[in-house]
Amino acid sequence: MKKKNLGIGIIGGGFIARFHIRSWVGVRNADILGIHDPDRKRAEEACALANSLGVGEAKPYKTITEMAADPAIDALWICAPNYTRVAVMEEIAQAIGTGKAELIGVTCEKPLGRNVAEARKMLELVRKAGLLDGYLENQVFAPAVTRGKEIVWARGAAIAGPPYLARAAEEHSGPHMPWFWEGTLQGGGVLNDMMCHSVEEARFMLTPPGAPRETLIPTSVTAYINCLKWQAPEYAKILSKNSKGKTDYLKRPAEDFARSLVEYKDKKGKISIVETTTSWCYVGAGLRLSLELLGPEYSLQINSLDAGLKVFFSRRVQGKAGEDLVEKQNAEIGLMPVVADEATEYGYIAENRHMVQSFLKGARPEENFSDGLNVTELLMTAYMSAEQGKTVPFPPPGLETFVPAVARGAWNPKKK
Ligand SMILES: NC(=O)c1ccc[n+]([C@@H]2O[C@H](COP(=O)([O-])OP(=O)(O)OC[C@H]3O[C@@H](n4cnc5c(N)ncnc54)[C@H](O)[C@@H]3O)[C@@H](O)[C@H]2O)c1
Repeated sequence: MKKKNLGIGIIGGGFIARFHIRSWVGVRNADILGIHDPDRKRAEEACALANSLGVGEAKPYKTITEMAADPAIDALWICAPNYTRVAVMEEIAQAIGTGKAELIGVTCEKPLGRNVAEARKMLELVRKAGLLDGYLENQVFAPAVTRGKEIVWARGAAIAGPPYLARAAEEHSGPHMPWFWEGTLQGGGVLNDMMCHSVEEARFMLTPPGAPRETLIPTSVTAYINCLKWQAPEYAKILSKNSKGKTDYLKRPAEDFARSLVEYKDKKGKISIVETTTSWCYVGAGLRLSLELLGPEYSLQINSLDAGLKVFFSRRVQGKAGEDLVEKQNAEIGLMPVVADEATEYGYIAENRHMVQSFLKGARPEENFSDGLNVTELLMTAYMSAEQGKTVPFPPPGLETFVPAVARGAWNPKKK
C-alpha cells in the first residue's frame, strides 16, 4: 500500500539542518522523526527545534544504520559536512543492501561530492541501493526564481525569443564553521561552496520550462580564482583563532573570490552564457543572492537584500551580534534589510515539498543526484580553467580523477 505520510531522518544536525527543520512548517505529508549527529548535543538541539515547531516528534539516533532501520523512517536528508559524504552514503547503501533498512529515498545537500569521483560514487551508491534521489539545490526552488522564470518565458521568450545570458552571484563575508575554510575538507574554497548554487540556478533560468537539462549542452568553461581578503595577515589570524590554530591561510589558503563563464549550445547551435561571481569577502548587510536574466526584449533581476522589510537602529542601540535579520548578518545598527521568511525566500520550503511529494509518488525528484554530478563536473572544469589560466573545452580530459590544487592543500596565489 502506498504511504500517505513520510517519516524523515536528518543526518547532521547543524546549520543547514536547522533551516530544513524551520522550513518544515510549510511541508505537508511528512514529519521529521529522527536526527543523527555524532555530536549528541547538536542532535538533541535539532530534535528540540523540530518538536517545538510541531514538525515531528524527532528523537536522536546513535548511528545512521539505527535510524535507517527504524520502520518509522522512510527517507533520509544528508546534511553532514562535505568530507563525510561518501562514508554517509556507503552506510545507507550498506544498511539497505544487508536488509537492515527499507527506505524510499534519500536527499543530499550541495555539493554532491568534493570532486567528480565522489559525486559519481554518490550516484552509483544511490542507484545500487535502489533509492529515489534528490539533490538539495534550494535556489532553483526559490519563489522569485521559479515565478520569475515562469513569467519571463511565458511573456518575453514566447514573443521575443529565448534568453541568452544568465548572471548569478552568491556572496557573503565567510562561512560559519572552520571546516568550510579548509580546502581539503570542503573540496575547495568559495567556488566549490557557493558557485554550485549560481551555475545551477542560472542554467535553470536559461532552460525552457519543462525541458530536460540536456537541452543546453555545456561547451566550455572560463574561470578565475583568487584570495583577496582572508590571506592578509590580520584576517588569516582570525581564521587561525576560530579553528584553534588549524586553519593556516598564510600557507594553505582557499579562494575567497571566484568567477566563471560557462558557454552552452542548444541542439541548433544557439549559444547562451552563464556568468557567475561568488565571494566570501563581501561585507554588506548579510548574504546577498543576485540573479539576472537577459533576453532580446526583456530582462529580470533579483537581489535578496532588496527586502521589503527594513529596520533602523540608531547608534545608541548597541545590541548583541546575531543572525536574526538575515543569514550571515554583519551588523545590528543602521538601516538593515530583513529577509522576513528565509526558509521560503531561499527556496527550502518548495524544495522540501517537492522532494516529499516526489517520494510519495514514487517518482525521481526533478533535481536529483545526476544534476548534482553535472554541477560538480562544471565546478571542477572551472578549477581546471583557473589553474591553467585559459578557457577549457567541456568536458575536459582527466575530469573524472581531477582534484583541484585548493582541495589538495597545494594552492597559494602569493607563491605564483
Ligand atoms: N543549501 C545551502 O545553501 C547550504 C547552506 C549551508 C550548508 N549547506 C551544506 O550542508 C552541509 C552541512 O553544512 P552546515 O552548514 O550545516 O555545517 P555545520 O558544521 O553547521 O553542521 C554539520 C553537522 O554535521 C555533524 N556531523 C559531522 N560529521 C557527521 C557525520 N559523519 N554524520 C552525521 N553528522 C555529522 C556535525 O556534528 C554538525 O552538527 C554541507 O554539505 C554544506 O555544504 C548548504
